[in-house]
Amino acid sequence: MANRILLLTSSILGEHGQSSALASHFRHRAAERDDLAVTQRDLAAESLPHLGLEELSSWQVAAAERSAEQQVLVQRSDALIDELQAHDVLVLAVPMYNFGIPSQLKAWFDRVMRAGVTFRYTEQGPEGLVQGKRAVILAARGGQYAGTALDTQTPHLKAMLGMIGISDVSVVYAEGLAMGEGRRDAALKEARQAIDGLVAGL
Ligand SMILES: Cc1cc2nc3c(=O)[nH]c(=O)nc-3n(C[C@H](O)[C@H](O)[C@H](O)COP(=O)(O)O)c2cc1C
Repeated sequence: MANRILLLTSSILGEHGQSSALASHFRHRAAERDDLAVTQRDLAAESLPHLGLEELSSWQVAAAERSAEQQVLVQRSDALIDELQAHDVLVLAVPMYNFGIPSQLKAWFDRVMRAGVTFRYTEQGPEGLVQGKRAVILAARGGQYAGTALDTQTPHLKAMLGMIGISDVSVVYAEGLAMGEGRRDAALKEARQAIDGLVAGL
C-alpha cells in the first residue's frame, strides 16, 4: 500500500463536529483511491487520561525491570507510537477550543512525544525519529485567526510534529464557522475543495 493514512479526530461533538465532517470528507475522497488506506481513531471518544507522573516514570524504567503496572502504562504509549510509525500520512482533524487543541489530542501528543523513542537530543539540538512522514491538519474554528498572533494552535501543532520529525505539514482551515451561515458554508466548501486537492496529491 503506497499511502497508509492515520486519521485522528478530536471533536467533543463526535461525528457532529465540523472538524469531524472535514475528516469524513477526507475519508470518502481517500476511499475513491485503491492505493490509500485509512485508519481512523476518535480521540475524544477514547479519552486518554492526562499524562501523570506514574506513567511518565514508567518510560524511564528499563524494559526488563518494569513492574506489571508499569508495563501496562508503557504499552499505552508504545501502541500509539507503533500505530503512528506504521502509517505514511497523519491527518489531524482539530477543533479550536479556547485558542488551543482539544485536551484529548494533547493527551495523544503527550504519549507519542517520547524522548529516546520519537525524538532525541543531540549536540546539535533535538532530532525527530519519526521519519519519512507528512501531516495534514484540518482546522475548524468559530472565529478567524489563521496567520495572526491569535492562531496559537497551528504553531503549537507544527512545533510538536516537527520535534518528532514531521516537518511536511499542510493545513486546511475552515474558519469563521460561528460568524454567520453564509460565512460558514463558504468556509466549509473551500475546505472541502482544499481536501480534494490534497488527497489528489497523495
Ligand atoms: C469549548 C469550546 C471552545 C471554543 N473556543 C474557540 C476559540 O478559542 N476560538 C474559536 O475560533 N472558536 C472556538 N470555539 C468554536 C469551535 O472552534 C468551532 O465550534 C469548531 O467548529 C469546533 O470544531 P468541532 O465542530 O469539530 O468540534 C470553541 C468551541 C467550544 C465548544
